Amino acid sequence: MTKRKTILDIGLMKQKQDKISVLTAYDYPFAQLMDNVGIDIILVGDSVGSVFSGYDNTLPVTLDEMIYHTRAVVRGSRQALIMTDMPFMSYQIDERDARLNAGRLIKEGGAQAVKLEGGEHMATTIRAIVDIDIPVCGHIGLTPQSIHRMGGFKVQGREDEQARKILADAKAVEEAGAFAMVLEGVPRDLAKLVTDSVSIPTIGIGAGVDCDGQVLVIHDILGLCDKYSPKFVKRYADISATISAGIEQYIKEVKDGDFPTADHSFK
Ligand code: KIV
Repeated sequence: MTKRKTILDIGLMKQKQDKISVLTAYDYPFAQLMDNVGIDIILVGDSVGSVFSGYDNTLPVTLDEMIYHTRAVVRGSRQALIMTDMPFMSYQIDERDARLNAGRLIKEGGAQAVKLEGGEHMATTIRAIVDIDIPVCGHIGLTPQSIHRMGGFKVQGREDEQARKILADAKAVEEAGAFAMVLEGVPRDLAKLVTDSVSIPTIGIGAGVDCDGQVLVIHDILGLCDKYSPKFVKRYADISATISAGIEQYIKEVKDGDFPTADHSFK
């Protein structure tokens, strides 16, 4: 039986300077595909709201939706660590709520860890969840659930004061007991400074090459969602074109009476 990676394996990767590969998945087939080729962590991201449900941002995603998607991803994987996003308003109100909702993602969803956004102001919440033995990954810098405060998806930490705040956030997240942190949308030099200043792994997205690992949204790297294309995304395939061609051919064959043939029919 294949052994699933744990947060201990992920921590060791930083010590050994092995880069950590992370991708999002929201369903069984994609989880299976990436798990089979050795992805280290699958993030059931609340980006599901944008790339799967078609919302403008992640704010409408519910806890029940995250549980549903997590179950599918867990069923489709055997070796990756499964981490799920706590959606907007599932942890911001109080620590009791945060613990209960993190617990549901573990107990009902089957995740091994949760991720939540915020630095110093979320440190006591992270600690409260970690204290009931649920591993937490922090997420600082550009935090998509704060889109209305940030006034859009903007790089964070370009000014000195903001950069100092992000470094303080990183230290607070580490001290609160998080096992890792996502660093999103920050200048490369700041990401390096943070990575060198904390003992837990940093997983970058739009944060340059010096982080301990990288995360991207699966729909972005496969060309499955052309709603927006941030500078930090690299496209590794264009499966939209392949899917469209297949569907077009199916429609044509049905209309022309070329499908089904005798081969697809029962006697
Ligand atoms: O929801 C998500 O996919 C994320 C990553 C972009 C880090 O949080």
